Amino acid sequence: MKISFTKPDGITEEEYLELGKKVQNSPWRQSYHIQPVTGLLNDPNGLAWYNGYYHLFYQWFPFGPVHGTKYWYHLRSKDLIIWEDLGIGLAPDQSFDSHGVYSGSSIKKDGLLYLLYTGNHRDDDWVRHSSQCLAVMDQEGRIRKETSPLIQEPPEGITEHFRDPKVWKGKNGYLMITGAQTIAQTGTALIYQSSDLKKWKYRGELTVPWKSKAYMWECPDYFEADGSGILMMCPQGMETEESGNSNIYESGYLIGSPMDEETLIFDGNRYEKLDYGFDFYAPQTFLDSLGRRILFGWMGLPEISYPTDRYGWAHCLTIPRELTIAEGRIRQNPVKEMELLRSEPVCETILMEDESYQDVRFYGRHYELMVQIINQTAGIFEMRVRQNKQEQTTIRYSGKDQMICVDRSASGEVFAKDYGSFRKARLKNGLRELRIFSDESSLEIFVNQGEVCFSLRIFPKESGVETVFTAREGSVKATIQKWNLKV
Ligand code: FRU
Repeated sequence: MKISFTKPDGITEEEYLELGKKVQNSPWRQSYHIQPVTGLLNDPNGLAWYNGYYHLFYQWFPFGPVHGTKYWYHLRSKDLIIWEDLGIGLAPDQSFDSHGVYSGSSIKKDGLLYLLYTGNHRDDDWVRHSSQCLAVMDQEGRIRKETSPLIQEPPEGITEHFRDPKVWKGKNGYLMITGAQTIAQTGTALIYQSSDLKKWKYRGELTVPWKSKAYMWECPDYFEADGSGILMMCPQGMETEESGNSNIYESGYLIGSPMDEETLIFDGNRYEKLDYGFDFYAPQTFLDSLGRRILFGWMGLPEISYPTDRYGWAHCLTIPRELTIAEGRIRQNPVKEMELLRSEPVCETILMEDESYQDVRFYGRHYELMVQIINQTAGIFEMRVRQNKQEQTTIRYSGKDQMICVDRSASGEVFAKDYGSFRKARLKNGLRELRIFSDESSLEIFVNQGEVCFSLRIFPKESGVETVFTAREGSVKATIQKWNLKV
């Protein structure tokens, strides 16, 4: 990635370069994931295919690995793989966004890209004021903010936790969904309507039958695919029994009939997790020119310290995933373009009977590994990746209960200990395929062509390169393929 040195305000050129140097010297810098040049990255924002490029912004705090005053950082790409760094997209330079240009989305209109975001402002008593705001990008890439918010304040009955507008074209004009909290401290989503993307009329709360203990919904996203309506959101405050894991916060979705735009009723009542891993939050989707629904997520979670903090940076985005619907569920698979990164292919069919297999050709740090099961009688099929003498990440499938488990208890430098070191998911019809994307400090594991995926950060030593396959209590026959991934 070409590094741009658009310097944020409030720091000298020298200090900023110094910060950049510290980050560049950090271990665990990713090789093919989007990561911040300095400071902290969180939510993907404003995703679009516009004017011949994919555009992507992310929430950014330049000066360190903390959730400070946020910017939108801007990148663009022709192929979702090689990203051009365009530097600061939106800076917190207005009174209404003085404490953060918070998350939002984009939509094309009249040859322009409209960027809708939340202005986060704190008054002298440190009371939060949230408004929904607009900036417009033209074909030359110039971005201009509107001088006052489009929606000045939350509607009655809603607290100042009112943010993250996602906009789409409905049957009758444009619709906006925002995350919100009611004064009774429950999470909800609000719907606004507009004919010109500037004047917005409050339509009301979205009515959904699904109930949870969440006190706030962040980053909602609504879209229709394959005749269904899908509402994605990040409900904060779910109990462990509700969510089935111990992640501090969750990202999930409801799937149902398309939302009724007149009554604002959405009948999705089954909550599904989007990702079963440790580090996944605030995903956003968009439709590209090929009609694909593409998702980027933040491979991180709020309120957790990560080992890179001491090098002045934190987090990265997931690789882009294409969403499809099958059997009433979302499937997520890496976009086809990920294959552009493949080099040095290795392929082998192995048969293991109560034994392990390892071969240096399957070792590495930056790779894609594909395992296709031909036959399995083994009670347990296990893979250890990024292994050295002391460290490894284990992916274990148990045939008895069809459970797949990811264990990062020994993955490398320990962090987020309070939230447990296992994550698991039950597979419907056994294990057929595993596709693992390993980068310097992350794993993304796609199971059975996107039936389940796990995203996680790991912080192993550079020596953590070994891959070991093991069958226990029987045999496993599988074809294994590996490609090194190079940008
Ligand atoms: C989600 C979130 C959003 C907010 C943004 C601020 O991670 O808290 O609700 O707009 O991050 O950076």
